[in-house]
Amino acid sequence: MHLMVINGSPRVKKYSNTDKILTKFLEGYSAEGNTYESYEVSDIKSWDKIRNAYEANDNILIAIPLYVECIPGLLMEFLESVPRKNGGKMSFILQSGFAEGSQLRCGEEYLKILTGRLGLTYGGTLVKGNNFGIRLTEGKARESQTEPYKKMGAVFARDNDLFSDECKAFTGPEYFKPHIRFFVNIVFYTFGRLAFKMMARSWGCTKSLRYRPYGS
Ligand SMILES: Cc1cc2nc3c(=O)[nH]c(=O)nc-3n(C[C@H](O)[C@H](O)[C@H](O)COP(=O)(O)O)c2cc1C
Repeated sequence: MHLMVINGSPRVKKYSNTDKILTKFLEGYSAEGNTYESYEVSDIKSWDKIRNAYEANDNILIAIPLYVECIPGLLMEFLESVPRKNGGKMSFILQSGFAEGSQLRCGEEYLKILTGRLGLTYGGTLVKGNNFGIRLTEGKARESQTEPYKKMGAVFARDNDLFSDECKAFTGPEYFKPHIRFFVNIVFYTFGRLAFKMMARSWGCTKSLRYRPYGS
């Protein structure tokens, strides 16, 4: 089975979490001989090439980071430029920063509508949050976040869709329990803040993160 893959993030490949997720997912997908070709929507100069591939393929996967509760504007702009298809399947990976599955459900519902409007059959969405930090980690820390996607790639290769119970379970908790939410808040406002400060400093930031150059 051949798959056309589009990374729908506006972030360039090198800095994109979606890219790291796709690398693992496609490792699992191609383990038994499936093939794929992949494209980046962030590379605007390649849009003609992506459009040609889009027209030529009928098994398409778009991997999307959640940007302000829905899909990134740049991807939307690209999809507005493709011709309506007459058949074929479109599946999705929808991933985000916040960890609760509920954060992504609105976007997921929209993808079902979008697929129909593009003239394709909906092949399901792999929904997963808690991915803020992938691009900020390396080695084992990154591996522990991305490796689970390899298995889901193999599941996709097996089913050619993302509707299985394994895919549903992959999302994790829909809502955190109150005591977990309390704990997450404590960690975020203590260690989290410290980590952001250190990260900003390592990127050359010399001002406080609360600095408001245009504030009164
Ligand atoms: C402008 C912007 C908006 C975002 N909006 C959301 C959001 O509404 N909900 C969420 O859970 N994560 C949000 N995120 C986090 C991204 O979904 C997350 O970091 C994702 O892994 C980024 O993937 P990428 O690096 O491939 O773009 C946002 C990130 C950015 C930069």
